[in-house]
Amino acid sequence: MNQDELKKTVADAAIEVIAEQLTKDSIVGVGTGSTADFFIDALKEIKHKFDGAVASSIGSADRLRKHGIPVYELNVVNHIVVYVDGADESTRQLQLIKGGGGALTREKIVAEVSAGFVCIVDRTKLVDNLGAFPLPIEVIPMARSHVAREIVKLGGEPEFRDGFRTDNGNQILDVHQLTIEDPASLEGTINNIVGVVANGLFARRPADLLLVAGDDGITEYRHN
Ligand code: 5RP
Repeated sequence: MNQDELKKTVADAAIEVIAEQLTKDSIVGVGTGSTADFFIDALKEIKHKFDGAVASSIGSADRLRKHGIPVYELNVVNHIVVYVDGADESTRQLQLIKGGGGALTREKIVAEVSAGFVCIVDRTKLVDNLGAFPLPIEVIPMARSHVAREIVKLGGEPEFRDGFRTDNGNQILDVHQLTIEDPASLEGTINNIVGVVANGLFARRPADLLLVAGDDGITEYRHN
Protein backbone atom coordinates (compact mmCIF):
# COMPACT_ATOMS: atom_id res chain seq x y z
CA MET A 1 0.00 0.00 0.00
CA ASN A 2 1.25 3.51 -0.70
CA GLN A 3 1.18 6.19 1.99
CA ASP A 4 -2.16 7.64 0.93
CA GLU A 5 -3.76 4.19 1.00
CA LEU A 6 -2.38 3.69 4.51
CA LYS A 7 -3.76 7.07 5.59
CA LYS A 8 -7.20 6.18 4.24
CA THR A 9 -7.07 2.76 5.92
CA VAL A 10 -6.27 4.25 9.32
CA ALA A 11 -8.91 6.96 8.91
CA ASP A 12 -11.52 4.26 8.20
CA ALA A 13 -10.32 2.35 11.28
CA ALA A 14 -10.87 5.46 13.41
CA ILE A 15 -14.45 5.71 12.16
CA GLU A 16 -15.08 2.16 13.37
CA VAL A 17 -13.57 2.97 16.78
CA ILE A 18 -15.53 6.17 17.36
CA ALA A 19 -18.85 5.11 15.80
CA GLU A 20 -19.80 3.13 18.89
CA GLN A 21 -19.13 6.15 21.17
CA LEU A 22 -21.44 8.52 19.28
CA THR A 23 -24.98 9.57 20.11
CA LYS A 24 -27.27 12.09 18.40
CA ASP A 25 -25.93 14.85 20.69
CA SER A 26 -22.23 14.08 20.28
CA ILE A 27 -19.68 16.60 19.09
CA VAL A 28 -16.57 15.21 17.39
CA GLY A 29 -13.22 17.03 17.45
CA VAL A 30 -11.57 16.99 14.05
CA GLY A 31 -7.89 17.50 13.27
CA THR A 32 -5.96 18.89 10.34
CA GLY A 33 -3.82 17.46 7.55
CA SER A 34 -4.05 14.87 4.83
CA THR A 35 -4.80 11.98 7.21
CA ALA A 36 -7.45 14.07 8.94
CA ASP A 37 -8.90 14.87 5.50
CA PHE A 38 -9.40 11.15 4.86
CA PHE A 39 -11.07 10.97 8.26
CA ILE A 40 -13.40 13.88 7.43
CA ASP A 41 -14.36 12.24 4.14
CA ALA A 42 -15.19 9.00 5.95
CA LEU A 43 -17.03 10.87 8.72
CA LYS A 44 -19.56 12.03 6.13
CA GLU A 45 -20.86 8.45 5.91
CA ILE A 46 -21.88 8.41 9.59
CA LYS A 47 -23.00 12.03 9.93
CA HIS A 48 -26.52 10.91 10.93
CA LYS A 49 -25.02 9.42 14.12
CA PHE A 50 -23.81 12.67 15.76
CA ASP A 51 -24.65 16.36 16.10
CA GLY A 52 -21.61 18.10 14.63
CA ALA A 53 -17.91 18.85 14.87
CA VAL A 54 -15.35 21.27 16.25
CA ALA A 55 -12.49 21.76 13.79
CA SER A 56 -8.84 22.50 14.52
CA SER A 57 -8.40 24.63 11.40
CA ILE A 58 -10.29 26.73 8.91
CA GLY A 59 -9.42 24.18 6.21
CA SER A 60 -10.92 21.29 8.14
CA ALA A 61 -14.01 23.36 9.01
CA ASP A 62 -14.54 24.11 5.30
CA ARG A 63 -14.18 20.44 4.38
CA LEU A 64 -16.63 19.38 7.09
CA ARG A 65 -19.20 21.93 5.96
CA LYS A 66 -18.82 20.81 2.34
CA HIS A 67 -19.87 17.35 3.50
CA GLY A 68 -22.91 18.79 5.28
CA ILE A 69 -21.48 18.28 8.77
CA PRO A 70 -22.36 21.18 11.13
CA VAL A 71 -19.29 22.94 12.55
CA TYR A 72 -19.46 24.57 15.99
CA GLU A 73 -17.19 27.12 17.59
CA LEU A 74 -15.46 25.59 20.58
CA ASN A 75 -16.81 28.31 22.89
CA VAL A 76 -20.39 27.13 22.46
CA VAL A 77 -19.63 23.46 23.05
CA ASN A 78 -19.65 21.83 26.50
CA HIS A 79 -18.29 18.42 25.69
CA ILE A 80 -16.30 16.84 22.86
CA VAL A 81 -16.57 13.09 23.04
CA VAL A 82 -13.47 12.35 21.00
CA TYR A 83 -10.79 14.16 18.99
CA VAL A 84 -9.29 12.45 15.93
CA ASP A 85 -6.12 13.76 14.29
CA GLY A 86 -2.92 12.73 12.54
CA ALA A 87 0.64 13.45 13.65
CA ASP A 88 4.09 13.98 12.22
CA GLU A 89 5.68 11.56 14.69
CA SER A 90 4.39 9.30 17.44
CA THR A 91 6.12 7.10 19.99
CA ARG A 92 4.58 3.91 21.31
CA GLN A 93 3.99 5.89 24.53
CA LEU A 94 1.54 8.01 22.46
CA GLN A 95 3.58 11.20 22.72
CA LEU A 96 3.53 13.19 19.50
CA ILE A 97 5.06 15.87 17.36
CA LYS A 98 2.37 17.75 15.46
CA GLY A 99 2.15 20.98 13.52
CA GLY A 100 3.60 20.08 10.15
CA GLY A 101 0.50 21.73 8.72
CA GLY A 102 0.83 24.66 11.11
CA ALA A 103 -2.41 24.03 13.01
CA LEU A 104 -0.74 22.93 16.25
CA THR A 105 -2.25 25.53 18.59
CA ARG A 106 -5.86 24.87 17.68
CA GLU A 107 -5.11 21.14 17.58
CA LYS A 108 -3.72 21.34 21.10
CA ILE A 109 -6.75 23.25 22.34
CA VAL A 110 -9.27 20.81 20.87
CA ALA A 111 -7.25 17.81 22.09
CA GLU A 112 -7.13 19.29 25.60
CA VAL A 113 -10.88 19.82 25.75
CA SER A 114 -11.80 16.40 24.34
CA ALA A 115 -12.63 13.43 26.54
CA GLY A 116 -10.65 11.10 24.28
CA PHE A 117 -7.92 11.57 21.67
CA VAL A 118 -7.45 9.05 18.87
CA CYS A 119 -4.28 9.64 16.85
CA ILE A 120 -4.17 8.12 13.37
CA VAL A 121 -0.89 7.62 11.52
CA ASP A 122 0.71 5.49 8.87
CA ARG A 123 3.73 3.37 9.79
CA THR A 124 6.24 6.04 8.61
CA LYS A 125 5.25 8.23 11.59
CA LEU A 126 6.02 5.69 14.32
CA VAL A 127 9.37 6.45 16.02
CA ASP A 128 11.36 5.34 19.07
CA ASN A 129 12.30 8.92 19.97
CA LEU A 130 10.72 12.20 18.93
CA GLY A 131 12.75 14.85 17.13
CA ALA A 132 13.81 13.72 13.67
CA PHE A 133 10.82 15.74 12.42
CA PRO A 134 11.53 19.45 13.05
CA LEU A 135 9.48 20.67 16.01
CA PRO A 136 7.01 23.41 14.98
CA ILE A 137 6.56 26.35 17.35
CA GLU A 138 3.86 28.98 16.80
CA VAL A 139 5.16 32.42 17.77
CA ILE A 140 3.79 35.93 18.01
CA PRO A 141 5.48 37.63 15.01
CA MET A 142 7.22 40.41 17.00
CA ALA A 143 8.81 37.80 19.30
CA ARG A 144 10.13 35.54 16.53
CA SER A 145 13.83 36.45 16.87
CA HIS A 146 13.70 36.37 20.67
CA VAL A 147 12.16 32.91 20.65
CA ALA A 148 14.70 31.75 18.07
CA ARG A 149 17.60 32.88 20.29
CA GLU A 150 16.12 31.06 23.30
CA ILE A 151 15.68 27.91 21.22
CA VAL A 152 19.35 28.03 20.19
CA LYS A 153 20.23 28.07 23.91
CA LEU A 154 18.29 24.79 24.20
CA GLY A 155 20.41 23.26 21.43
CA GLY A 156 17.90 23.62 18.61
CA GLU A 157 18.32 25.12 15.16
CA PRO A 158 15.21 27.18 14.41
CA GLU A 159 14.13 27.75 10.81
CA PHE A 160 11.54 30.41 9.99
CA ARG A 161 8.64 28.99 7.94
CA ASP A 162 8.82 31.82 5.45
CA GLY A 163 5.59 33.04 3.87
CA PHE A 164 3.35 31.04 6.21
CA ARG A 165 0.76 32.44 8.62
CA THR A 166 -1.27 30.30 11.01
CA ASP A 167 -5.06 30.55 11.23
CA ASN A 168 -4.35 32.74 14.28
CA GLY A 169 -2.24 35.21 12.27
CA ASN A 170 1.05 34.06 13.80
CA GLN A 171 4.30 32.60 12.45
CA ILE A 172 6.03 29.23 12.77
CA LEU A 173 9.59 28.30 13.68
CA ASP A 174 10.54 24.73 12.73
CA VAL A 175 13.24 23.54 15.11
CA HIS A 176 15.85 21.05 13.92
CA GLN A 177 18.46 19.10 15.89
CA LEU A 178 16.65 19.03 19.23
CA THR A 179 17.49 16.17 21.55
CA ILE A 180 14.17 15.28 23.11
CA GLU A 181 14.86 13.05 26.10
CA ASP A 182 11.90 14.17 28.19
CA PRO A 183 9.13 15.41 25.85
CA ALA A 184 6.79 16.64 28.62
CA SER A 185 9.53 18.65 30.29
CA LEU A 186 10.70 20.21 27.00
CA GLU A 187 7.10 21.01 26.09
CA GLY A 188 6.79 23.03 29.30
CA THR A 189 10.18 24.71 28.89
CA ILE A 190 9.35 25.92 25.38
CA ASN A 191 5.87 27.07 26.41
CA ASN A 192 7.51 29.27 29.05
CA ILE A 193 9.48 31.31 26.50
CA VAL A 194 7.73 34.66 26.17
CA GLY A 195 6.24 34.99 22.70
CA VAL A 196 5.56 31.29 22.22
CA VAL A 197 1.90 30.55 21.58
CA ALA A 198 2.25 26.77 21.57
CA ASN A 199 4.70 24.09 20.48
CA GLY A 200 4.09 20.88 18.59
CA LEU A 201 5.01 18.49 21.40
CA PHE A 202 1.90 16.66 22.56
CA ALA A 203 3.33 14.97 25.64
CA ARG A 204 1.44 16.58 28.52
CA ARG A 205 -1.80 15.70 26.76
CA PRO A 206 -0.75 12.68 24.67
CA ALA A 207 -3.13 10.59 22.59
CA ASP A 208 -5.27 8.02 24.43
CA LEU A 209 -5.30 5.61 21.52
CA LEU A 210 -2.84 5.40 18.64
CA LEU A 211 -3.85 3.61 15.44
CA VAL A 212 -0.96 2.81 13.09
CA ALA A 213 -1.60 1.58 9.56
CA GLY A 214 0.94 -0.80 8.07
CA ASP A 215 0.88 -3.39 5.32
CA ASP A 216 -0.34 -6.01 7.82
CA GLY A 217 -3.30 -3.88 8.91
CA ILE A 218 -3.92 -1.67 11.92
CA THR A 219 -1.92 -1.85 15.15
CA GLU A 220 -3.41 -0.26 18.27
CA TYR A 221 -1.35 1.28 21.06
CA ARG A 222 -2.77 2.43 24.41
CA HIS A 223 -1.26 3.54 27.69
CA ASN A 224 -0.16 0.63 29.89
C1 5RP B 1 -1.14 19.62 11.18
C2 5RP B 1 -0.72 18.37 11.84
C3 5RP B 1 -0.92 17.09 11.11
O1 5RP B 1 -1.63 16.21 11.90
C4 5RP B 1 0.41 16.50 10.79
O2 5RP B 1 1.20 17.46 10.11
C5 5RP B 1 0.28 15.25 9.92
O3 5RP B 1 -0.17 15.61 8.64
P1 5RP B 1 -0.50 14.55 7.53
O4 5RP B 1 -1.66 13.74 8.02
O5 5RP B 1 -0.82 15.38 6.32
O6 5RP B 1 0.74 13.70 7.31
O7 5RP B 1 -0.24 18.34 12.94
O8 5RP B 1 -0.80 20.75 11.92
